[in-house]
Amino acid sequence: MGRSLLDIYDAELRAGRIAADAAQQAVAQQLDGLAAVLKTRPKKSETGRLRRLFSGRSGERAAPRGLYIWGDVGRGKTMLMDLFFSALPDLPKRRIHFHAFMQDAHMRIQAIRDKQRQGEVWEDADPVRMLAEELRREIALLCLDEFQVVDITDAMLLGRLFEALFSHGIAVVVTTNTPPRDLYHDGLNRNAFLPFIDLIEERMDVTCLNGETDYRIGRLRGREVWLTPIDAENRRRMERLWQDLTDTRRGGPLYLPVKGRQVEVPQAARGVARFGFDELCARPLGPADYLAMAAAFHTIFIDAVPVMGAALANERRRFTILIDTLYDNHIRIVATSAAPITGLAPRGTGDQAFARTVSRLQEMLSDQWWMHEED
Ligand SMILES: Nc1ncnc2c1ncn2[C@@H]1O[C@H](COP(=O)(O)OP(=O)(O)OP(=O)(O)O)[C@@H](O)[C@H]1O
Ligand SMILES: [Mg+2]
Repeated sequence: MGRSLLDIYDAELRAGRIAADAAQQAVAQQLDGLAAVLKTRPKKSETGRLRRLFSGRSGERAAPRGLYIWGDVGRGKTMLMDLFFSALPDLPKRRIHFHAFMQDAHMRIQAIRDKQRQGEVWEDADPVRMLAEELRREIALLCLDEFQVVDITDAMLLGRLFEALFSHGIAVVVTTNTPPRDLYHDGLNRNAFLPFIDLIEERMDVTCLNGETDYRIGRLRGREVWLTPIDAENRRRMERLWQDLTDTRRGGPLYLPVKGRQVEVPQAARGVARFGFDELCARPLGPADYLAMAAAFHTIFIDAVPVMGAALANERRRFTILIDTLYDNHIRIVATSAAPITGLAPRGTGDQAFARTVSRLQEMLSDQWWMHEED
């Protein structure tokens, strides 16, 4: 018998590698439940009572109830799924990023269709079911990291695909930032997608992992987040902070809807956005735009904040509004800058409002500000 996930979790705790987290322990327990079911699953060669026990309709083996783990960034969803995955050494299984899985699925379905056209396989068979059939021969457990639905081709395939996976006995575990009911929110032709949500709720245990702590934020404890001057060394440090907070090299572009407009966010990943100073403060953006950013992100990276003298009066005014908005919403800031905070407005150019900005910024760079947990 391998160790249970809770055993592994406790060992990590005792070794001081992770902090105790009740929400995580509850999810670990649920995953252990699934692991126990998977371990008793009959081998291909076994027949008889056990096999019938697992049988669903038409002799196919129904899948054990998988787990749909959703919650905010940095809560430990991926960590728990990976521990669970590695605690099942003997099970045929796959752990894959959701996007990679869908890409592969689309490709394999296309290949099946091609074979059907060439008469190599029965042309009336449903390619999606044939794919599930293939997968059943390969794996009994599928772990999908960062499940999300934004694409209409994915949205239209997912229901049929998951239905087929479940009826072929493949257990599915996913991590995601989105509860089932919010999936593909505002998506095109969403009505056709709703049965998939029902299917998830019917066939998977939906569990929320939303402890107090974003553990990625903890990695930045005690590190400088206002990097000055703007030189090669500080640009490197900026990249490292970005990677430590997002686990990615580059974010993807994103558009925030604001009052019927679309505000471009050049890079976003895991609740963190990244802008050049000009993209934030030299464009005609106002309080509503900054508020939308504060609602969408917990941390904002700003590259190359300049000294804002008389020539940059407009930029300075927008920067003031930006900082006020971020401050009110307890957003974190990381920046490279030409000057320390007290030198951002040269003598004679800063006004009363900017004095407040300076004071707020100083507070926002403190460790307390960073480690503060949202309520
Ligand atoms: N209890 C804990 N103590 C210390 N560190 C932890 C704990 N739980 C998770 N971490 C660490 O926090 C980081 C974020 O965890 P993880 O990647 O699992 O988050 P996630 O919930 O998958 O976030 P996302 O939704 O952004 O993918 C990881 O480096 C992980 O090892
Ligand atoms: Mg994750």
